[in-house]
Amino acid sequence: MPDFAFAKPALPKTGALALLIAEGEAPWPAADSASSGGIARALKAAEFTGKKGQSCTILAPAMSGATMSRIVAVGLGKASEITQLGAEEAGGTAAALLAREPHATVAAQGLPAGLAAAVATGMALRAWRFDRYRTTEKDSEKPRLAKVTVLTDDAAAARAAHAPMAAVADGVFLTRELVAEPPNVLNPAELAQRCRRLEALGVKVEIFGPKELKKLGFGAMLGVAQGSANEPRMVVMHWNGAGTRRGARKEAAAPLAFIGKGVTFDSGGISIKPAGGMEDMKWDMGGAGTVVGLMAALAGRKARVNAVGLVGLVENMPSGTAQRPSDVVKTASGQTVEVINTDAEGRLVLADVVWYCQHRFAPRFMIDLATLTGAIIIALGHDFAGVFSNDDALSKQLQEAGEATGEKLWRMPLGEAYDKQLKSDIADMKNVGGRPGGAITAAQFIQRFVNGKPWAHLDIAGTAWSSKDAACVPKGATAFGVRLLDRLVADHYEK
Ligand code: BES
Ligand code: MN
Ligand code: ZN
Repeated sequence: MPDFAFAKPALPKTGALALLIAEGEAPWPAADSASSGGIARALKAAEFTGKKGQSCTILAPAMSGATMSRIVAVGLGKASEITQLGAEEAGGTAAALLAREPHATVAAQGLPAGLAAAVATGMALRAWRFDRYRTTEKDSEKPRLAKVTVLTDDAAAARAAHAPMAAVADGVFLTRELVAEPPNVLNPAELAQRCRRLEALGVKVEIFGPKELKKLGFGAMLGVAQGSANEPRMVVMHWNGAGTRRGARKEAAAPLAFIGKGVTFDSGGISIKPAGGMEDMKWDMGGAGTVVGLMAALAGRKARVNAVGLVGLVENMPSGTAQRPSDVVKTASGQTVEVINTDAEGRLVLADVVWYCQHRFAPRFMIDLATLTGAIIIALGHDFAGVFSNDDALSKQLQEAGEATGEKLWRMPLGEAYDKQLKSDIADMKNVGGRPGGAITAAQFIQRFVNGKPWAHLDIAGTAWSSKDAACVPKGATAFGVRLLDRLVADHYEK
């Protein structure tokens, strides 16, 4: 991860230079004149106009008084329409082009300090990489970007704006790391221990093992766990950023609640998945990963809010002790479930954790995140996650935060007719509702454990990881939801 510094505009003598250029605007005059107009000529020849997402690299430019390795120009789009997300994406694009440069200077002096900070944040988000298990990679293949200097007219303001953004980026990195870790390393107990590390940020962390879960009556979650040699855990993380201040409004005392599905590996259980692509199911703890990263982000930037994060951690495996299709389990709510398909395990985990959450915390709202269904991928593909909610205002706030952060949500319906698909002949419900509307019936299942509280469910099966690079998100674990929910909190629930 590169180090970032903010400094007053001055043309660097060595290294690489990134020019952020709005549509139709000329390159930085100081740089262009040092190149005797060569930069402008090169950009013109490349038909670079500053459109959003456009980029152009000039290698070894002839500059008077400087020996630079390369100049990259990145388009910002229309000057009047540059958003925080746009600035982050320009930074991300620049970072990808500068990956092999040890030191880069980014000319952001045309931008307000907050956007200069966003450029740095976008660069960090793109430059992140998980290389714990690479041992033979040659230096000539490794990224080199170590130091970035962002030029800005108000370095102090940019530095101040950057600090909370860097805390959120650290939360994103934590999530990406957790999701990337292989399941032989990151089993439920290990993931719980990683949550424990949040104590260093002032987060209170409680870990529940099988004994405690049994006492709480978590029959649905324990049913999923029983086929695995790895014990389940539930972790409850508390961040009290608003609670203790004098004069804090009473409603600010009740926490916001975030709940994550944490299946560290989903083989399907006895209803086992086909071999092709099964390796992707190490990512089935993506919802939990996002909740952990979000709690780290909120604590890291000392958000003035009370929040709890709950994650249900299990491994779904087939074995002689595994649950069977047709088993009936009793949930913490007292409702019983006929397990028709052991591969519909995420909803069983959430049923108990969601019930426990509303009962213990009476939160202002509950938002759960889960890589819950293949059906949401069929419905929405990989660009939008699905949001299901019993609360129109919350749903709207979520969708707006999604637009602002690029972690987009599409609202899906809920309703009686879908709920009926869960009718069981032997128990209060079954855990699958058939193929039609598969993402919706999964949401309906969870809603039966919400107890009428304000709630939203994000089905992130299509967005928790990606098979291709995006401006600020290298391929792999995306940490979808961390920036979105941090933004939701910042825009509506602080102070
Ligand atoms: N973890 C999967 C959902 C999933 C599938 C996430 C593909 C990401 C990519 C979930 O536990 C599951 O297996 N769901 C089943 C439900 C079905 C048995 C009703 C599914 O979607 O096929
Ligand atoms: Mn499954
Ligand atoms: Zn699953």
